[in-house]
Amino acid sequence: MRASFKDVVLVDAGDAFGGRSESEKRKAEVVLRSMGIMGYDAFCVGESEVEFGTEFLLDAARETKVPLVGANLVYHKTRKTVVQPYVITKRAKVKVGIVGLLDDVLIMPEAEGESDSLVVLDPIETAKKLIPSLKKKVDVVVVLAHMGFAKCTKLANEVPEIDVLVSGHNPGVSMEARKEGNALLMMSGTKGQYVGRLVLKLSGKKGIASFDGTLVSLDGRIRESKLVNAVIQEYNNQEKKLTEERMRQEQEATLSRAGDDRYLGQETCRRCHDGVYEKVATMGHARAYEGLKTKNNEGLAECLVCHTTGYGEPSGFGGSSSVDLKNVQCESCHGMGSKHKRDGSYKRVSEQKCLVCHTKERSPSFNYKTYLKKISH
Ligand code: HEC
Ligand code: HEC
Ligand code: HEC
Ligand code: HEC
Repeated sequence: MRASFKDVVLVDAGDAFGGRSESEKRKAEVVLRSMGIMGYDAFCVGESEVEFGTEFLLDAARETKVPLVGANLVYHKTRKTVVQPYVITKRAKVKVGIVGLLDDVLIMPEAEGESDSLVVLDPIETAKKLIPSLKKKVDVVVVLAHMGFAKCTKLANEVPEIDVLVSGHNPGVSMEARKEGNALLMMSGTKGQYVGRLVLKLSGKKGIASFDGTLVSLDGRIRESKLVNAVIQEYNNQEKKLTEERMRQEQEATLSRAGDDRYLGQETCRRCHDGVYEKVATMGHARAYEGLKTKNNEGLAECLVCHTTGYGEPSGFGGSSSVDLKNVQCESCHGMGSKHKRDGSYKRVSEQKCLVCHTKERSPSFNYKTYLKKISH
């Protein structure tokens, strides 16, 4: 976009990271560092961004030089805003005021060790107080609206000084910019599938003379950034080291628990079920681990859970077992080989077993009947 347009303003309306685990926290840093590299002009804080606490967020944003905005996100006791209400960005001779606003129905998470809790003030009241005076200082007012669709349209209709609304939090997608009151509304969906591109032509008196708003799909045609890839690679390498360390600890822990039920590996099954083995070996399950390798993700705990057999369990992949448990093997579905009975119970595999890995996120087209047919053996 920067190659096609000289004056680009880059924004995000929130929910770009979050979670509770240490690994998600490290991922948050990756996201912020990447945003810093891409040169974001403003990023509206959502409820998920404060899950690791405001101190973490503010430090990481300062370090990565990502300007956070949120005009109605305040500390409960002091009523002071957590981040700046807005930023003013200048491109050519045009001044753009970018305001962050959150939905007041959102409940802010309580982070550990936080001395004050956070509250969200009424976004429409806040906008009415703030935006008319901001409009006098800038040429274009952009609101990063971290809120539900109904509130977003209400905001557009009650605050006519808003020129552009970029909606976040609300997972809606609109392939084109739409008019909402006086404002242009962009809805670019979630999970980094699209980047919204809104091209504005301005004329001195009239403000926005014409616009063209579309979504650009972030598919294979978009080249990867070397700089951002380096940040992701660094994260992956660090996670792999941590995974190895955890595996080693689990291994030690299981040595003292010998005699428990355990995974035997598919080579054991093969001895008596050669025909089935050959059939199963042709399926995608048998390549699940190799698939991770091509993207250099084969050491990441978060992927191993579904792309190996028994990861996280003492005798599972990475545990004390010396057998090869890469890929989704027989025991992923049938259970540990040491529990092998011959009364019909060991062949019973319920849909529930599949759903552990075939989650909505990872396998959106999963359908038990059709998928079962594909793996029949
Ligand atoms: C331990 C996790 C796990 C379990 C349990 C699991 N799957 Fe999968 N499944 C995967 C992964 C990972 C892939 C992708 C493999 C690849 O192609 O790299 C996959 C792919 C598939 C595919 C497409 C692969 C192909 O051969 O075309 C089908 C069909 C499938 N699974 C059916 C099932 C069914 C039915 C169940 C339950 C009886 C099940 N799976 C249980 C992880 C799992
Ligand atoms: C919750 C379980 C789960 C996790 C976690 C998971 N996957 Fe998967 N993955 C699956 C399933 C199930 C499929 C098959 C989806 C289908 O075909 O419906 C799949 C498919 C894939 C495929 C496509 C395989 C092919 O041949 O088309 C790749 C690549 C992949 N996963 C990589 C990853 C990476 C990298 C990670 C970690 C960042 C990861 N997965 C984490 C369950 C998971
Ligand atoms: C993705 C899950 C999955 C994997 C992997 C898997 N199975 Fe199965 N297996 C099933 C399901 C589902 C059935 C059907 C159960 C039924 O008929 O109720 C089944 C049935 C069987 C049966 C009984 C067949 C019959 O007609 O009674 C045997 C034996 C068997 N599997 C062995 C294996 C062996 C050996 C492997 C590894 C080489 C393996 N399975 C891998 C899910 C799996
Ligand atoms: C020492 C030989 C042997 C080994 C090793 C073995 N099986 Fe079996 N398995 C059998 C026999 C025998 C049956 C019963 C066959 C029958 O009744 O038709 C059976 C039945 C099954 C069934 C159907 C279960 C049932 O309750 O009817 C499944 C599923 C199965 N095996 C999976 C596996 C898996 C997975 C492994 C590897 C962990 C494995 N087997 C290892 C000999 C073996």
